[in-house]
Amino acid sequence: MSHPENTDAVILVGGKGTRLRPLTMNTPKPMLPTAGFPFLQHLLARIEAAGIKHVVLSTSFKAEVFSNYFGDGSQMGLEIEYVFEEEALGTGGGIRNVLDKLRHETVMVFNGDVLSGTDLGGILQTHEDRDADLTMHLLRVADPSAFGCVPTDADGRVLEFLEKTEDPPTDQINAGCYVFRRSVIEEDIPTGRNVSVERETFPMMLNNNRKVYGHVDNSYWRDMGRPTDFVRGSSDLVRGVVPSPLLAGKHGESYVDPTAGVAGGALLLGGTAVGRGSEIGAGCRLDGTVIFNGVTIEPGAVIENSIIASGARIGANTRISDAVIGEGAVIGARCELAGGMRIWPGVVVPDTGIRFSSDA
Ligand code: GTP
Repeated sequence: MSHPENTDAVILVGGKGTRLRPLTMNTPKPMLPTAGFPFLQHLLARIEAAGIKHVVLSTSFKAEVFSNYFGDGSQMGLEIEYVFEEEALGTGGGIRNVLDKLRHETVMVFNGDVLSGTDLGGILQTHEDRDADLTMHLLRVADPSAFGCVPTDADGRVLEFLEKTEDPPTDQINAGCYVFRRSVIEEDIPTGRNVSVERETFPMMLNNNRKVYGHVDNSYWRDMGRPTDFVRGSSDLVRGVVPSPLLAGKHGESYVDPTAGVAGGALLLGGTAVGRGSEIGAGCRLDGTVIFNGVTIEPGAVIENSIIASGARIGANTRISDAVIGEGAVIGARCELAGGMRIWPGVVVPDTGIRFSSDA
């Protein structure tokens, strides 16, 4: 039996999230509202549900946003501690830097922007069964050519780490969740400088004959780093395609925060999420869309596959698809936006003032 209560969780949340700009200019990526809650809250709830109690957040960019929201973690039944990097240390440096906070021999490390449905206890079990130095969650994907791949032998021992190639020899990729033996963090990751676990630490561990194993499955998995994936991941959480303990029993076509208002005749589809205090006008149609907090959508607007950040206002009968609207931006009435457009925070677009489409 695995022992989650004797496991530390470390979550890497120090990245700048540049691919999601402008959403990440004031809010770190793991704190963006996703299916009604900061993305990280879904991960913390999964960690708690798996039986792990002690969590260390490895922070750098906008660190205070995390501690202001989660505090000591007791409201979630967790004990959360924070470690801050003045200068970003990379994924490996971020793990090494929390060493003093670790209490147990087994350390489960999470990428703070991966949405996954994998069985955490199963990965811990593999680690224990193999008496491994490192156990990596490996995911089977339909098209591995877009990723580096990680072949294993019949016993699950990792053979090598291969760069992206057109014709990969295995369909297993690194899913960004690792279980370390604590002493290995101390011995194999240097201090005081930027280290990438993927590029530097893992290949070195194989060279040094460390026992590196893979826990292979084909669970739900999504890197939330780009707008299209962020929208898709939020929608999948709302619809229960990937489970979150925060939404148990509340899955459906949409999630509306109890403090939000939706006028009669508005249609919310495709896993749309509406955040705290937002107001959706009559006759709007929102499909696969993430509405952050304090947003106003005026009557008759049609929005699909888009993200509308906090405090933004969308005018009546405006149509938006595949776009990102930054915090506090104001889009006037009867505008049209499509095709990956990103509107920066605070920008004001007058009525009928914009018509943009990739096929215009
Ligand atoms: P992009 O800039 O859009 O690539 O996003 P990112 O900065 O978050 O980088 P990436 O998605 O590659 O990071 C993977 C995970 O590691 C994320 O959860 C990041 O928050 C985290 N991370 C990346 N760099 C650092 C770092 O230097 N220190 C710490 N503590 N965490 C990091």
